[in-house]
Amino acid sequence: MEASLLFRTMAESDLDLVLTCLSEPSVNTTTDARFLDHLAAHSYRHEWTWLAFDGDSLAGLAVWWGFPAGDRPLALDALWAAPAVADPVPMWAELIRQVPKPAEYHIFTIPESRDDPEIVLRLRAAADAGLTTFNERFRYEWTSATPLPDRSARLRFAPATDDEFADAFERVSVGSLDVATREGVARQGARAQALEDLEDYKMMPGPRELWRLAFDFSGKLVGVALPSANAGGPVVGYVAVVPEQRGHGYAADLLAETTWILAAGGATVIRADTDSTNTPMVATFERLGYRRFALRLVAS
Ligand SMILES: CC(C)(COP(=O)(O)OP(=O)(O)OC[C@H]1O[C@@H](n2cnc3c(N)ncnc32)[C@H](O)[C@@H]1OP(=O)(O)O)[C@@H](O)C(=O)NCCC(=O)NCCS
Repeated sequence: MEASLLFRTMAESDLDLVLTCLSEPSVNTTTDARFLDHLAAHSYRHEWTWLAFDGDSLAGLAVWWGFPAGDRPLALDALWAAPAVADPVPMWAELIRQVPKPAEYHIFTIPESRDDPEIVLRLRAAADAGLTTFNERFRYEWTSATPLPDRSARLRFAPATDDEFADAFERVSVGSLDVATREGVARQGARAQALEDLEDYKMMPGPRELWRLAFDFSGKLVGVALPSANAGGPVVGYVAVVPEQRGHGYAADLLAETTWILAAGGATVIRADTDSTNTPMVATFERLGYRRFALRLVAS
């Protein structure tokens, strides 16, 4: 890397420069239009957008996303390098290092583009900067052209308090096949991870009133069904079964209920992600008529 590179966050006066970079076609999630929208919504910020300068000329750019009400950036949405930069990897790694961990880098793609050099180089920079856990997530979509799945005849669904959800999140994290959950539990313990999940789901734009706990007819907790939304529209926030109730196909009952609740609220498209390695969840989405349409690559 050029020893002379200077790293700093964006100033208001950099806006035109940043927008010019983001208007180039790329694998980045961030476009110029998205940058302006998210800046207005406070999910992109000047102080979360990092620039690398070689003298007076812009050499590199990193755009980070966070919750509008959050106090730190959580996910990298874009890495850009000037054509003059021969090997962008060291510069990108240094840009990523400017933001304290834990942090994630999400790249949206399709299976055929998985090994595109544009993606490979960005993931290499992320790994060099310490985001060494790599996770491939399948993206699923249900649309109203698909019939609604049958609603559960063996579970009862009820709203619950934050404390009850935190307890449930803690219980379902045991033996989870979800990479982010396992990483979070290993890093900070099951209780802290459950509380963080609770806060994160509450910051999503989907109404909190839609969340449900599921019980069997003897009154025992089965799991959680969290219809939600992100900036792109309705999503399956979370579906999870407590360890002692796994293996009865209840994940399908929870996903069916989540789908029903969102459809009843007017959703015509519902999106969801799950790790490619979470085979029971992958099978559940496919059984209920969710279509796999894309990949999300996550370095954390
Ligand atoms: C994924 C999950 C919801 C599946 O729930 P489920 O109701 O047990 O699913 P199924 O009954 O359809 O399971 C299918 C098979 O996978 C097995 N299985 C389910 N969860 C498993 C787990 N965490 N670890 C190992 N095996 C598991 C089941 O025992 C069953 O095996 P079998 O066919 O030999 O009986 C549940 O594992 C869970 O809550 N995990 C933690 C949260 C999570 O990963 N949610 C999805 C995030 S999008």
